[in-house]
Amino acid sequence: MKLYEKFASELIELIRNGTLKGSEKLPSIRHASKRYGISQATVIEAYYLLETQGIIYAKERSGFYVKPTFNHTLKAPSPSEKYIHETTVEVSDFIFSILKVLKDPDTVQFGSAFPDPSLFPIAELSQSMNKSLHALLSQPYKLISDVATGNTELIRQIELRYILSGIPLLPNELVITNGAMEALSLSLQITTQPGDLVAIESPVFYAILQILERLQLKAVEIPLAAEHGMDLNALEDSIEKFNIKAVVLMTSFQNPIGASLSKEKQLQLIEIIEKHQLPTIVDDVHSELYYSKNPPISLKSLDRSGLVIHCNSFSKCLAPGFRIGWVAGGKFTDQIERLKLMTTISPSMPSQLALSHYLQHKHYDRHLQRLRYVLALSQRKMLAAVSKYFPDDIAVTEPEGGYFLWIELNPKVNALELCQKALEHKISIAPGPIFSASDEFKNCIRLNYGMEWTLELEEAMMKLGAIIKEFN
Ligand SMILES: Cc1ncc(COP(=O)(O)O)c(C=O)c1O
Repeated sequence: MKLYEKFASELIELIRNGTLKGSEKLPSIRHASKRYGISQATVIEAYYLLETQGIIYAKERSGFYVKPTFNHTLKAPSPSEKYIHETTVEVSDFIFSILKVLKDPDTVQFGSAFPDPSLFPIAELSQSMNKSLHALLSQPYKLISDVATGNTELIRQIELRYILSGIPLLPNELVITNGAMEALSLSLQITTQPGDLVAIESPVFYAILQILERLQLKAVEIPLAAEHGMDLNALEDSIEKFNIKAVVLMTSFQNPIGASLSKEKQLQLIEIIEKHQLPTIVDDVHSELYYSKNPPISLKSLDRSGLVIHCNSFSKCLAPGFRIGWVAGGKFTDQIERLKLMTTISPSMPSQLALSHYLQHKHYDRHLQRLRYVLALSQRKMLAAVSKYFPDDIAVTEPEGGYFLWIELNPKVNALELCQKALEHKISIAPGPIFSASDEFKNCIRLNYGMEWTLELEEAMMKLGAIIKEFN
């Protein structure tokens, strides 16, 4: 990431968090250069970049100003409120049909669960793949030596990232998996038996529902609020009322509503799970995609009991399709490891070798910085488009990381119908009901902005807005 891009991304964060308000004047070039200790040329490049992106504008002889890109009166969606009950999970065919559409390259992928693959360092990954495969010519045993445990060097690289983030790990706590999906699935399998109850978020990432259905587990859906994540009082009430055997949640930039749990809330959660000795499975796949200066707090870093099972992968931030994830299993690590050996053994060794090479020799943190910057910028663009083209009677999230907006539309809008109509115009969206075990969120949609903003996307948002207005 170039210095001016870094400075531009700092400005975007100041605009995003409201420190710099719409129509406010930016510091003069000379002043900014002095204040931030960068050259005037860097400030100019950053300001020009933000100007071309429509984030700021220049006034003749006056300087640069923040563009009031969207209507800040947009409301946050109301917390999901419901009577908490146990639900048998049956995933609709609709989810599978949505997943099919995501393979169509001619469709605008607002419904996708992944950032656009062009945002990933494909050239560097391919070099790493070539180099690591070439190295096998002199060390062929590497193809099989670590099959059972996962590639040792890859594990060391991931461990280093935990240590640098201040997250303690037990020796040999990491198990390499086929993406976060397998990590979540193994974690649920070893903490539950068929028929057990699991506390999940509402709304929840639909793959969790798929896992529950496959393992014949029942869901107790705990409401979430966009501003502060899971309702921990509702969680505790449910634990007391039902015989819940595990909790699954995302503590950072939750999919789909983008909520995060503050440190205070996470400490409260730790207290609850310790009191009830409840295994807690954290899906942390968005933790690297934060827009602020500092990374989000990790529940794993607060855990002293070994009850937190921390699942993650490279799918959302580096290498989707390589299918490399991991789980730090706390006190359940040995069971997870054994179950993995009895099922898939290990993810593909070439993928592991390539990622291990990439992490050692390439510039992962530089890539992440740029990715965060693009995502924060695209969020501004999508919010501006929502404000411009969608009806006024909506509520929308403004997450501090990740790449999803969750939008609550007028109750007259049927999200499933909207999804079908949008698809006729080659626009995919993720309709609210696929994020619920009990068919909630009928007037909600999730939109993915994990892509470089283009005119085509702007036009797709305009079209989508027009389709939504047809429901009124
Ligand atoms: C919230 C969340 N968790 C887990 C996964 C699965 O990740 P992976 O592709 O690493 O299996 C996804 C993928 O879409 C996701 O969005």
